[in-house]
Amino acid sequence: MKRESSLSVEQNEEIEDKIKDIINEDLLNIDNKSITECTEFNEIIYDLLLDTTVLQMKNYTQHGKISCFIHCYYVAYYTYVVCKKLHLDYISAARGAMLHDLFLYDWHTSSPADVNEKGLHAWAHPKIALKNACQTFNLNKIEKDIILNHMWPLTLRPPKTKEAFIVSCMDKFSATVETLENCRSRFHSSRIYRYAYIFVGLIIFRMF
Ligand SMILES: [Fe+2]
Ligand SMILES: [Fe+2]
Repeated sequence: MKRESSLSVEQNEEIEDKIKDIINEDLLNIDNKSITECTEFNEIIYDLLLDTTVLQMKNYTQHGKISCFIHCYYVAYYTYVVCKKLHLDYISAARGAMLHDLFLYDWHTSSPADVNEKGLHAWAHPKIALKNACQTFNLNKIEKDIILNHMWPLTLRPPKTKEAFIVSCMDKFSATVETLENCRSRFHSSRIYRYAYIFVGLIIFRMF
C-alpha cells in the first residue's frame, strides 16, 4: 500500500517543527533524527500527536523516565518501518500503535479499578486504552485489534491481524530499548556524581 504526501513542502516543514516542539525534549538518546524527520510517518499520526486526549499520555510514566506518549511514539515508528517493508497496512498499524497504551493512569500508583475496570494492569489496560481511543477516534478493525491484543502472549487472546502481531513485537522491543537506555543513562549520571563527590572530597582535604 502506497501513500503520497498530500501536503506541500512548507506544510511538511511546519509539521516537522511542531513534532519537534511536542516530543523532542522527552526523546531518548537514540536515533531520533530519523524519526522526527520522517515526514511520511509523522504526517500519518499528526492529528493524534496534537489531540488533547493523546497528549495526556505525557503525564504518565511508562518505563523509567519514558512517558506513555514517547513510548507509543517509538512503538508507532518501529511498527511503521516494519509494516511498510512487509507491504502491510502501515497507516493503520502506525495509528493503532500510537494509541496502544492510551490507558491514562499511573500504573505504578493506580490500578484499573480506579477507572472502573477489573483485573491487573497488564491484562486490563488494553481494554481501557481501546475504550478511551474509541471515545475520541473512529478506529478501523486493524487499529482496534492492535490496541486490544498488543499484550499478547501475556493475554492469551492472539492478534487477529499481521499488523497487530507486529505491534505486539515492537512494543516488547521498544520497552527493552527504553529500559536499557534508562539504565545506561542512570549508570552514566551516577558515575558523574561519584566523580563529583571525590573531587569535592579532595578539595576539602586540601583545605584542611
Ligand atoms: Fe501496553
Ligand atoms: Fe506499550
